[in-house]
Amino acid sequence: MTLTTYIREIPKAELHIHIEGSLEPELMFEIAERNRVVLPFSCVDEVRKAYNFTDLQSFLTIYYQGMMVLQKERDFFDLTLAYLKKAHTDGVRHVEIFFDPQGHTERGIAFETVISGIHAALQGGEQRFGITSRLIMCFLRHLSPESAMTTLNCALPFRKWITAVGLDSSEKGNPPAKFATVFDRARAEGLLSVAHAGEEGPPDYIWQALDLLGAARIDHGVRCVEDSRLVERLRTGHVPLTVCPLSNIKLRVFPTLGEHNLKHMLDMGLCVTVNSDDPAYFGGYLVDNFQAVQEALNLDRNAIRTLAENSFRASFLTKKEKRGYLEELDRFCLSKG
Ligand code: HPA
Ligand code: ZN
Repeated sequence: MTLTTYIREIPKAELHIHIEGSLEPELMFEIAERNRVVLPFSCVDEVRKAYNFTDLQSFLTIYYQGMMVLQKERDFFDLTLAYLKKAHTDGVRHVEIFFDPQGHTERGIAFETVISGIHAALQGGEQRFGITSRLIMCFLRHLSPESAMTTLNCALPFRKWITAVGLDSSEKGNPPAKFATVFDRARAEGLLSVAHAGEEGPPDYIWQALDLLGAARIDHGVRCVEDSRLVERLRTGHVPLTVCPLSNIKLRVFPTLGEHNLKHMLDMGLCVTVNSDDPAYFGGYLVDNFQAVQEALNLDRNAIRTLAENSFRASFLTKKEKRGYLEELDRFCLSKG
């Protein structure tokens, strides 16, 4: 079996995917047409050409614009099911999906519309593809903590469909500390927590995510290497990092994939996972990310296996579910490895 096939077929989980970031231009046009939304682009190619980013903010502006076509429950359903279909062909067995309710409620779309569409597709995806899932509700950190609290209150009637809260959007100037109160409240409701930190922001934001938000995982976290005490905390505390290689190149967190620190972090004993972040915008889904990073950093099968194993260990699955997937992974590696 070639390494390419090994990467595609090895059972794995994806833990860092913004569902709105999986909106392909083709589906964007289709949904825009049926909702009678006029896009500022004349064709799919023109949209793709606009995807030239210089940093996180330059991406976020386009990302919030793109999601404006999503208005009906069916739109959120179609978006989520399209992602699951792709994930299935990538050998993904379990997904933990972020959604950004404020990107929709701010434009007058009801919270219920958003979550009902996503939830129905996740259930359909489990039936059709056997892909298990968890849903993570993110707060937009460029908005106020009061807006985050309002969002949490809107979410409580759907508490059973949500596993964790997260924190995303413009990192610089919006430290995790700003959201300590709303995360306390979410955790009091029994929700787990994660946070984007150390993508563009300093290591101190990772400390804050751990100590003030109780984050069980750090999304991105690549700047942890600037603080050796922090690396020790992440390593001994087994705090997973959900790293997104192609995203980091598109948003210029690293100049090239060859200079990415993923392998270095693995070698230091950190629980690193590979993820796609916003695949429709960054030029690749999960397998594309594995493939690209394997080639750039010359990862061997053992490293690929570790990354796949980490993805299940780092997930919010139950112990029993994790054991099931890890056994499936063992069987795969025994027969194909
Ligand atoms: N970082 C912060 N916010 C985001 C991202 C990201 O990579 N993707 C979508 N929202
Ligand atoms: Zn992200």
